[in-house]
Formats: sequence, C-alpha cells, structure tokens
Amino acid sequence: MRYQRPIGTQDVTPEVAPEWRFVEESFRQLAARYGYGELRTPVFEDTDLFLRSVGQETDIASKEMYTFEDRGGRSMTLRAEGTAPAVRAYLENHLDRTDKQRLVKLYYIVPIFRYDRPQAGRYRQHHQLGLEAIGSSEPAVDAEVISLAWNFYAQMGLTGLSLLINSVGCPACAPPYVDKLKQALAPALPQLCESCRRRYVENPLRMLDCKICHDYMAPAPKLIEELCEECESHLGGVLAALDALGIPHEIDHTIVRGLDYYTKTAFEFQIEGIGAQSALGGGGRYDGLVEKCGGPPTPGVGLGIGLERVLLARQQLGQAVTGTAGFPAREGVFIVALGEAVWIEALKLLQELRRAGVKAELDYRRRSMKAQLRFADNEQFAQAIILGEDELAKGIVGLKDLATGEQVEVGRTDLSSRLGPA
Ligand code: HAM
Repeated sequence: MRYQRPIGTQDVTPEVAPEWRFVEESFRQLAARYGYGELRTPVFEDTDLFLRSVGQETDIASKEMYTFEDRGGRSMTLRAEGTAPAVRAYLENHLDRTDKQRLVKLYYIVPIFRYDRPQAGRYRQHHQLGLEAIGSSEPAVDAEVISLAWNFYAQMGLTGLSLLINSVGCPACAPPYVDKLKQALAPALPQLCESCRRRYVENPLRMLDCKICHDYMAPAPKLIEELCEECESHLGGVLAALDALGIPHEIDHTIVRGLDYYTKTAFEFQIEGIGAQSALGGGGRYDGLVEKCGGPPTPGVGLGIGLERVLLARQQLGQAVTGTAGFPAREGVFIVALGEAVWIEALKLLQELRRAGVKAELDYRRRSMKAQLRFADNEQFAQAIILGEDELAKGIVGLKDLATGEQVEVGRTDLSSRLGPA
C-alpha cells in the first residue's frame, strides 16, 4: 500500500525548500521594515467565524471549506482565508488597546485550505503571505499595503505585473447599485451560466467577474460611477497616493473579489504567463468586518499574496533559487571517523562542533576514508576532520581543507579555535 499526498497539495522537499525560504524570508523582512508584526493563528477556527465574515453565499463558504465536527460536537473549519482569523485574534487579544497609534499592523505566512478543482496555480492547500492594517480609514494605508506588495514583487524579480483596482462601495451605495445591476441583467438571465443565475439571486456582484458570461455584462452599470461621495473621495485618495508613490494601476470595474467583507477599495495583482490562475495577490478594505466579528466599528485594509503563484512566476522567469545558490559555496566540517575505537570520540566531537555553531556531519554508514572524503567534497563541506586510532592515541586530528586538499595535524584541544561557527 503506497500512500499519496491529498490531491491539490504539495510536498516541500529539501531541494525546493531554499526557494520557499527565500521568498518567505524576503516577505518577513519587508513586512518588518513597514512596521508589521507577525501573527500566528490556529489552523482551524469556529466555522461560524468564516461564515459570518466571508459570507454564506460566497463560493468559499458554500462549497470550498474544509469543515468538520470535532469530538465535542463543535463545527470547526480549516483556515479558509486569513483576514477573519486576524480580526478574531485582534479582538480576542485586545491588540487595539496595546497599540498606542490605534493602527495595528499584522503580517502572516500561513496555509489556507479550499476545496476547489485543482489545476496549475490552484491548490486545495495553498499558502498566503498576508497583511492586515486595522484601525485607520486613511486612503494612504490602502496605498501602503499595495506598495508593500508592489515592492515585494519587484524584489522577487517579477515583471509583467498589473495592479487592477476598483471600489465595491459601502452599505450606503452598494445595495442601490446591486438593484440597478439586477435590473440591467434581467433580460440576459436565461443566457447566463448556471453559476451566474444562482449569483443573480445570492451574490449579484460576483456575476461581473464571471469569465464565461463576460459578453453578457455589457449592459451592466459600473459601480465606480455610482459611488457615494465618501467612497468616491476615498478611491480618489488611494489613486492619488499610488500616483505619488509611482505605482502604475488600472481601474477595472470587474474586480469585485470573492469575499463579502470588502468595502470601498478592492484590488488584484495579475501577472501574465503563469496560466489561468493569474491573480498573484489581492485584497481590499473591510471597514465593517471588525464590528461584524463583535468588536467596535473599526476600519481595516489588507491583502493576501499567493505564495505558490509567486514561486510559479519566479520559475517561469528563471528567478528561482536552486540547490545551494545564494549560500556560501563551502561550509562546515565532515568528520571522517576510521575504526571502531574512535566512534564514541567522533560522536562527542560532532556534538561539540554543532553546539559551537559549526555545521558538522559524519558518516553513519562508516564507509572507507576515500568514500567519505569524496562524499564530503561533493556535499560542499569546507573541511574534513580525520580521526583514526593513531590520531586518537596522540590526542590530535587531521584537518583537511577540501577546497585545496591541504592537510595539517591539529591538537584535539586546539580544534575549536581553528573552526569558527558556520
Ligand atoms: P483571495 O483573493 O481569496 O483573498 O486570496 C489571495 C491570493 O491567494 C490570491 O490572489 C491568490 O494569489 C492566492 N490563492 C487563492 N486561492 C488559491 C488557491 N486555491 N491556490 C493557490 N493560490 C491561491 C483572501 O484570501 C483575502 N483574505 C486577502 C485579504 C487580506 N484581503 C484583505 N486582507
């Protein structure tokens, strides 16, 4: 019986792990530079948290969540997105009270679980590099979140990127717009796809970004032309800030996002050349979400970047870090232990070196000296320590530079001063 990983998931093996780490570390450092602190939340939450925030009628809540009943009879859901858990943690840990500026800035790198049809760039477990800025309604904060992502993509070497931006309005201007939209699309209803006929009733805005029914959307009014004064001025503020920061953007009124909590700003980053799943990241403002989750009225804005999609794009563009690239060519010490009598001493030496911060390994298969040295050389160790019965008796070791082949005798007690931390 051979097991396979679940469909739509990936293993990160040591060969590809350096690339994952590079991308994650770059994001961490950039987020810290912008003043975002790390947030880690549980992998599962109360199902109700997602239903209330994401919205019952969305694709995520209606058909993509990994929901299960725990042994106590509670309904739990694997993290279906990152914003609702962040807001829950913000409220539960009173983060608003600990932050003097009342603007709480959080970042996270977490797995997200969605039961969707897997394809290139779309997985059932993917990872998001996320940001949430909670506590300010200032358009410059929307621009800060966008600019962080923009700089991140640039640092990742990604080109051919577009930033599509829209406003989905607020509870004052969105509902009258939705009525107009339904009126305008009613005649086309029999021609629309099955999903859109359902969306017409349950979530009309989502019809706008349907790839199948695109051609029937011509009569649809544009929400961006129906915004209330406040939403219009907010959008103007965001666009002006983006202009000031030199971030190119395109207004796209079909960017409505698949989550119900958005208000005002909604945006997506798209890239050519990674296939159908071209959204590299997306986000927006969610001014009603904190209140919906039981807190005081508090505005917020954030985004999620799909880690796997960044990796795919880097691969397409030949940017991926492979193997030992980016690391010093040679590093660490390989202990060549020769003979039974030195084995315990070799294990002690290994422990000593590792505790001193030196990368060190030995050969548990106890092969010949030649085989061990060849292995150490192939694995890019900098030095080899040769420890045989003679050396043990004299209290010395042979220290071989694997780059030059030069070998010297070193007293066992002088060894640590000859080997710095890796
Ligand atoms: P989202 O658009 O659902 O937003 O996901 C954000 C990004 O995650 C997408 O743009 C895409 O790059 C990636 N992504 C989504 N689903 C998958 C999948 N099945 N496989 C691979 N990658 C995927 C959110 O989740 C919001 N919580 C973002 C946000 C944060 N809004 C405000 N704050």
